[in-house]
Amino acid sequence: MKYTTWDVPEIGEDLVGRVEAAAAMLHDGSGDGAQYRGWLTLPTDYDEDEYTRIQSAAQRVQADGDIFITIGIGGSYLGAKAVTHAMSNIFTGVRTAGGKVEMLYAGNQLSSAYLQELLDYIKNKSVYLNIISKSGTTLEPALTFKVLRAALEERYGEDGARERIFATTDKERGVLKDLAGKKGYETFIVPDDVGGRYSVLTAVGLLPIAVAGISIDDLMQGAADAAERYSAPYGDNACYQYAAVRNALYESGKKIEILVGYEPKLQYFSEWWKQLFGESEGKDGKGLYPASMQFTTDLHSLGQYVQEGERHVFETVIDIEDPGAEIDIVQESGDADGLNYLAGKTMHEANTAAREGTRAAHRAGNVPQIALTLERLDAYNIGHLIYFYEKACAVSAYTMGVNPFNQPGVEAYKKEMFSLLGK
Ligand code: PA5
Repeated sequence: MKYTTWDVPEIGEDLVGRVEAAAAMLHDGSGDGAQYRGWLTLPTDYDEDEYTRIQSAAQRVQADGDIFITIGIGGSYLGAKAVTHAMSNIFTGVRTAGGKVEMLYAGNQLSSAYLQELLDYIKNKSVYLNIISKSGTTLEPALTFKVLRAALEERYGEDGARERIFATTDKERGVLKDLAGKKGYETFIVPDDVGGRYSVLTAVGLLPIAVAGISIDDLMQGAADAAERYSAPYGDNACYQYAAVRNALYESGKKIEILVGYEPKLQYFSEWWKQLFGESEGKDGKGLYPASMQFTTDLHSLGQYVQEGERHVFETVIDIEDPGAEIDIVQESGDADGLNYLAGKTMHEANTAAREGTRAAHRAGNVPQIALTLERLDAYNIGHLIYFYEKACAVSAYTMGVNPFNQPGVEAYKKEMFSLLGK
């Protein structure tokens, strides 16, 4: 992965020192929330027996399943959705090469229309469920699971449903752990020392990703290589430099970081990223607001604001060198559509020109630019990018002076909702 910046502030010695101190806190466990740093070593230090069970469960679903529904919210589904969406056919939700199982997601809102349409859609299809909740008490997945579990039990009987339901939760506590025990579901663990938004490289993300037919070995290898690469000293460490640059931009008055992709397959990677940074940094009255845009689509809606609206934004663009498809633009006699000037080029060359042109225009509009360039969207590169962002987020938050690993603000809506529902 290549890291490049344009028009960002010069990073002074003081900020470099703060970032280095933040990284040291992360590594030595002297910062707030230190008990949630398990993700730091996950790419090489994980439960190998469970990893093997994940692969066997995935093979079982692939042999017989049409649909796999991941039920979870926040960190309990966004990582899996980010990776599977990046590597699956956008229209069918099935892995582009060699996949067969359609990946669906539920329990990430409380819409009855969504759930009813899902129930209708899965009728007559071979369905497997993965309920994921670390706490086991989150209403959205719990309620959705109640409905889908009943549908499976009605269709397959209790014994048949048991073979089709996997529960990913705390290793010993919680309602879901108890329910899974009573029902006899195969269970996977959310480790105590890994919080939801940092859990994609645990069973939380790995089981759905493996079911989709994506190599979790490659994903973990990409993350493992990133873990090594981003442990280097500041001068050789793009992850620390990115953390420094976003803090420098924040301190210079920029309040919003927009994550930009030119490939629609990155849409849910942006959603995962927004949760990671939003919940990690947005507290104590601080934090860059993490926004996302899909270009060139949003250049025709929000692009106006980015170019000329309030000057409090900067952009981080994920560039993909090889989009995995080649469409040639052909010459037409008569040039009726006026596009012959593009003949001989490819669609991707047009997309690249749009990207470079937009960068030049936005720089002229005082929008500092950062780019992360990946060769292609494969499991290795996505694993690398995931680890890069997890570490950059933790270091950036510590540099800003906030605890990256709690989310006290998320409880406020739950308290009000549960009181209205009479809990
Ligand atoms: O990052 C987090 O901790 C949260 O986003 C959680 O993942 C989310 O609230 C879901 O929680 P749970 O897995 O306990 O249902």
